[in-house]
Amino acid sequence: MKTPRFIQLHDLAPHALAQEAAAGLSAASAYVSPKFFYDLLGSRLFDAITELDAYYPTRTEAAIHTEHGPSIARAVLAHTGRTPVLVDLGAGSCAKAARLFGALAPRRYVAVDISVDFLRTSMLALQREHPATDMVGVGLDFSAQLQLPQTLLDGPALLFYPGSSIGNFAPGDALRLLREAREAAGGGALLIGVDLLKRKALLEAAYDDDLGVTAAFNLNLLKHLNRLLGTDFDVRGWQHVALFDERESRIEMHLRARQAVSVRWRDVERRFAAGEQIHTEYSYKWSADGFTELLRQAGWRDMQCWTDAQGWFGVFVAAA
Ligand code: AVI
Repeated sequence: MKTPRFIQLHDLAPHALAQEAAAGLSAASAYVSPKFFYDLLGSRLFDAITELDAYYPTRTEAAIHTEHGPSIARAVLAHTGRTPVLVDLGAGSCAKAARLFGALAPRRYVAVDISVDFLRTSMLALQREHPATDMVGVGLDFSAQLQLPQTLLDGPALLFYPGSSIGNFAPGDALRLLREAREAAGGGALLIGVDLLKRKALLEAAYDDDLGVTAAFNLNLLKHLNRLLGTDFDVRGWQHVALFDERESRIEMHLRARQAVSVRWRDVERRFAAGEQIHTEYSYKWSADGFTELLRQAGWRDMQCWTDAQGWFGVFVAAA
């Protein structure tokens, strides 16, 4: 049996992350990158979000794969040829990629996440199920740049990016990532999940659920900053806000100060007026045509899209 290899490319030094968070908090319009959602509790709260009735993307994408799995696999293999390298972007538990192994029989599985520590347990378990597949875990923050070691990409690859995480990038950054993914594919293919435009009420319910799980996910970011940066946020002084901006076609998540408050860390003090907000996340919603055009601009071709009966979510395959 082979054993997975692990390579940490991204610098996870806490002081670099703390500096990044501090810069956002000090900006005139305060912001914190959504990557700070995902400490241990944040990752568990996200898993809980995916179980909510109101949060339709995860189950809708899974249903599309269940219903159209064989056609999706045929489209992928027509572009990559047999036994492609499977590159899983934001792999986490590796569960979504694991479901592709039967149909695609990848010769190598490259799981990418910000920290290899998120990948160890799941990859060891997957290796036991697929003892002959070469498996490599890569620790990389590809939200800044997607550049993988060339030695891992020695043939056509399938770049797999499920979950509509592409929606968390502004269109210009999404275009950059899709271009870099095409470079990495080496003449292979892309398989990507995209949340599609729909009624405002449905979108806002998905990001402001009645159990308050998404609110806890958003507020937990402040607790993460208290540990990472030494801020003294009291989460009870902040309110979760999630609104759909129709002009920009995006959900905007913010944390709003319930009353005037000063936040301190090290020798810094940042005052927030009552109602002032910290921006924490965008989640862009695309039309199927709009996303096809974005893929074309990024150099992808032969786009195909599978969707559910309501047209809520799109699974796209494209050739490099
Ligand atoms: C990870 N990402 C695709 C989620 C989304 O829907 O944008 C993150 C999320 N934020 C609030 N709920 C879920």
